[in-house]
Amino acid sequence: MSETINLADKIEKQLPAELVNFMQTAGKIAASQGQNLYLVGGIVRDLLLGKSNFDLDLVVEGDAIDLAHQLNNIKQGKITTHPRFKTAKLKWDKWSVDLTTARAETYARPGALPSVKPDSLTSDLFRRDFTINAMAIGLNPTRYGELIDRYGGKNDLERKLIRILHDKSFIDDATRIWRGLRYEQRLNFQLERNTIKLLKRDIPMLDTISGDRIRYELECIFHEERPEKGLRRAEELGVLPRLHPALKGDSWLAEKFESARQLTSPTPPPIGLYLALLTYRLSDAENEHLISYLRLSKPIAQTLRDSINLTVKLKLLDDPNIMSSNIYHTLHGYSPPALIANSLASESTVARRHIQLFLDKLCYVKPSLTGNDLQKMGIIPGPQIKETLEQLHEARLDGKVSSKKDEMKLVKGWLG
Ligand code: CTP
Repeated sequence: MSETINLADKIEKQLPAELVNFMQTAGKIAASQGQNLYLVGGIVRDLLLGKSNFDLDLVVEGDAIDLAHQLNNIKQGKITTHPRFKTAKLKWDKWSVDLTTARAETYARPGALPSVKPDSLTSDLFRRDFTINAMAIGLNPTRYGELIDRYGGKNDLERKLIRILHDKSFIDDATRIWRGLRYEQRLNFQLERNTIKLLKRDIPMLDTISGDRIRYELECIFHEERPEKGLRRAEELGVLPRLHPALKGDSWLAEKFESARQLTSPTPPPIGLYLALLTYRLSDAENEHLISYLRLSKPIAQTLRDSINLTVKLKLLDDPNIMSSNIYHTLHGYSPPALIANSLASESTVARRHIQLFLDKLCYVKPSLTGNDLQKMGIIPGPQIKETLEQLHEARLDGKVSSKKDEMKLVKGWLG
């Protein structure tokens, strides 16, 4: 028998006292009712790796909803429950904890969401994606801190391997293909040999997954520190081409992602910007196909359309003598991430400088005089006011006027 490993010290050191106290209280309540409570999944992996992760996932051999209500009596937070799945989410102050009833899952067909039935912790761990995510820690007082590692997760962590638990794993849930390469690239691990073989075999299974779920996986990739690593690997394994054959995870993309991060630092780039760069080299039709398959939100879809439409305008902006008003009219109305994507993607330094000028300055330029001012100066209300304001805007953009006084002089000149 292998020796028991106790992680109570790591829990104490790595997690905030509030969460440690919460888990201990939860363990005591569960035990007092003859139930077993465990900490499971990604947080166990990250505790062993010494990485910060405060996403508490608890599994109870018993009744998660009932336990969540009892804990909420103490915390007085907010509780959301899903009786069909026997799960609950508890939120208080800045904390959030997921509680799940230990369960087994069966899949009616590949890609379908699973049917679940209460079961033991061992079955609950077996339904999970990778061995490194299928470990648990006991929280009942008699087992507090004990690592439960039925499938060799700790060994795989030490050998830096991402390994599925059974041969049908990717068939049950092909989103694990995306998840696997994401963990591999985040942790600098390797997909284990047989796992890669099965991953490649099961790539067609990606077609069984809804666009919404694939979009979620892509979003997860974009939340990684360096999404280009996952996308490069996804191309290499044939995962990205399965999403769309024209998508590339190459060094061009890596370079643009890096520049995007430098530009938006210290905040990471918005997803729309990353996506606009990923889809930058698609045709209109290819782009539309992806937008509808992934069911992208209206603003993101608009960003991608804008981004591609803008590419043809880059030639106009490549002129060093272009007037500022012309830059304004060329770029006005396009979404900012689409403009940034084009600035990053353009080969022309002149065009890039002009997009930057628009974003930093020209898009904010406005005349100082208002319609009211113009009426006071004797212009009759109606289309003439609008026209005059547009001419003033133009004069402002091109630096012909730079103060309210200048503008009044100009208008007086026009009025004769
Ligand atoms: N899980 C799974 N199969 C999936 C999704 C999730 O088996 N398709 C399991 C894994 O055990 C995972 C846990 O559910 O650890 C929680 O899922 P999630 O929050 O997505 O994973 P984390 O490991 O917490 O991932 P991350 O570090 O990226 O937040």
